[in-house]
Amino acid sequence: MSELRPLTAADKDFVKNLMAKMTLAEKVGQLHMPSRINAVADHEMIANGMVGATLYASGATAGNERDQGVRREAVDSVQRVAMSSRHGIPLLVGRDVIHGHRTVFPIPTGQAAALDEELVYDQARRAALEAVAEGINWTFAPMLDLVDDARWGRVAESYGESPLVLSRLGTAAVRGFQSVGCLTACGKHYVGYGLARGGRDYAAAEIGQTSLRNMHLRPFKAAVDAGVGTIMAAFCAVDGLPMHANRHLIRDVLKGEWGFEGAVVADWDGIGELVHHGLASDLREAAKLAINAGVDIDMVTGAYLTHLVELVESGEVPVELVDEACARVLGLKVRLGLFDPENPALPGNADSLPGIEQTHHLDRDLARRGAYGAFVELKNDGVLPLIRHSGEASKGGGPEGIPNPGEGGVVKPGLVVLTGPYVNEQDALLGTWTLDGDPAEVTQIGKALKERIPTAIVDDGRFSDLTILRAREAETVIAVVGEHAARSGEDRSLATIDLPVGQLEYLQALSRVANKLVVVVFAGRPLNLAPVLPLANALIWAYHPGIEAGPALVDILLGDATASGRLPMTFAHTTGALPISHMEHRTGRPTLEAPLGAGRYQDVPSLPLVPFGTGHTDLVYGPLSVVSQTEDGVRVQLSVTNTANNTVREPVLLFYRDPVSAISRPIRELVDFQLATVAPGATELVTFALPTSAFGYYDYSVDYRVDNGEIELTAGWPRPDATSVTVTV
Ligand code: GLC
Repeated sequence: MSELRPLTAADKDFVKNLMAKMTLAEKVGQLHMPSRINAVADHEMIANGMVGATLYASGATAGNERDQGVRREAVDSVQRVAMSSRHGIPLLVGRDVIHGHRTVFPIPTGQAAALDEELVYDQARRAALEAVAEGINWTFAPMLDLVDDARWGRVAESYGESPLVLSRLGTAAVRGFQSVGCLTACGKHYVGYGLARGGRDYAAAEIGQTSLRNMHLRPFKAAVDAGVGTIMAAFCAVDGLPMHANRHLIRDVLKGEWGFEGAVVADWDGIGELVHHGLASDLREAAKLAINAGVDIDMVTGAYLTHLVELVESGEVPVELVDEACARVLGLKVRLGLFDPENPALPGNADSLPGIEQTHHLDRDLARRGAYGAFVELKNDGVLPLIRHSGEASKGGGPEGIPNPGEGGVVKPGLVVLTGPYVNEQDALLGTWTLDGDPAEVTQIGKALKERIPTAIVDDGRFSDLTILRAREAETVIAVVGEHAARSGEDRSLATIDLPVGQLEYLQALSRVANKLVVVVFAGRPLNLAPVLPLANALIWAYHPGIEAGPALVDILLGDATASGRLPMTFAHTTGALPISHMEHRTGRPTLEAPLGAGRYQDVPSLPLVPFGTGHTDLVYGPLSVVSQTEDGVRVQLSVTNTANNTVREPVLLFYRDPVSAISRPIRELVDFQLATVAPGATELVTFALPTSAFGYYDYSVDYRVDNGEIELTAGWPRPDATSVTVTV
């Protein structure tokens, strides 16, 4: 369970007694959540108990707009007014603390690449500490949307295409955020937002019941089971019904079937948008639809404050619905300890927060550790690391180590030229949804490299002719390119996922003259690397890695660290091949190219350009073997041997395929992963213990089932030495 304490019977009695003293208007006030309230301008509304929560956000697409930030004194001032109201009920104070607060960690998809639950927990906990220090007691994270279309800008905020990765890392984030006890996380966006049609943000999502249950709902169920305090409704319509009016999925499934006891919050003006969806003729109708659906808190619209009292008094909305929503909000505030005068998130108590002293400086060590996992090695012909552990420059060139001079160029052995738009960049390295990180605190890549290789030439590429001259003489050219953080995140969908204009031509020019070319691509989403991979001797993929991006990259280039990430999303050959996933369903017409189906094109390969799970490995796998198989579950194991000269901590991935089932199932699905720590030259046993339910699924009647029969398990895909075994459940 999360460290945010569960709701107890005593808590429920407290809430019941408090509500017995509240007027209908005051109960509705607890459901009202305006943005950026002010202790002076909004004094009357707050003091009269007409506000239950507020958020500090710059607007409807806050993720890429820097606002004036959050300051403790401003938050304390509004809390003091709220606590002076008739019942003295403190506010929920929300902020998008998505991947760090002052210490900015990799964007969530970069954290997913590390496949490290402990690291996700630690980063979330640190972010929560820094946020509570400024009076924030609610973050709108983790995002649990399953994504398989890189055109959607918000893939940057997701843990990717695997329901298992989303569930396990999402749970780790919930527990990490809620571990300080006085801040609640928010599982978002419930549900299906990641399937916006065509990757177009806010577009409708068409999701059948089996995919909804077997893929998209799973991470949210995991977050609820982990004790997440709030869930945010999605902007999109699912199979025609906008989520803010989706009574079945909110009341019947989330609150009913799963027993979620927290509060459901609308997304920004999500209730008001029911009018745009065409479901409501006006805000009064929208308020009625949303409260009936089970949306407890009205973010920004004001429809509840304006219409709910009258809707109840006219008999159109049962008062019980308002009571239920208010009880959930107050129950959450009790769980957060907001009725405890010593609560660290309340005015004057900041110093009482355990660990507050740690927030007096940035946690660069944790940020550096997190950054390594956001780098994924997609190609390396031996050019990396540049400096072997012996300290001498790598010979580069072919296996014989003799550098091949560029076209007529005179290669200066050991000379490194670093070039590209990212060499001196700071802000873009932080990634989208970085509201409180300070770009000035980001160490530039060029500066970090010069500290380690003083002879390196750092060239930002503004003058391509000069860059080409320099590149011609270098033993190794490192080009750092990619998309700016502002090109991913909310309302940043793209119809083509190529590199930004001009960058491919730039790399083509460099590849024609460079002795060796290392390409580093920074991005918030998979891009079209098909024309890029052939140009490079090595390609390091980087999900905007946060405040320590520069030093982490240099550590990797010089061999002091490993690009330890694995792709959380599949890379397609071109935009037109999207959406794509490792979980493509089988089809009725297998091909030689795609023996398990998944469909095909005539103009590009039908298999991924770079599969899910790809990344650097130092481990050699032994054969997967069955340890036991009973009706309760199976245990399989394999040996892994470390070929590196240093201890490695690497994810070992296990996939399964159910060859005969009641619905068409994925050609493969990640069913478990674990991090193996192996000393240099050592061999360790990795054992996977899976309950039979791990192979369960919802069939077309939406009945949950586990088929008896054979299951094929594979460790190590997509590596060439992947190893499989068949078990019977
Ligand atoms: C935005 C986003 C949501 C965010 C909220 C508050 O529109 O959809 O993820 O938490 O509004 O900023």
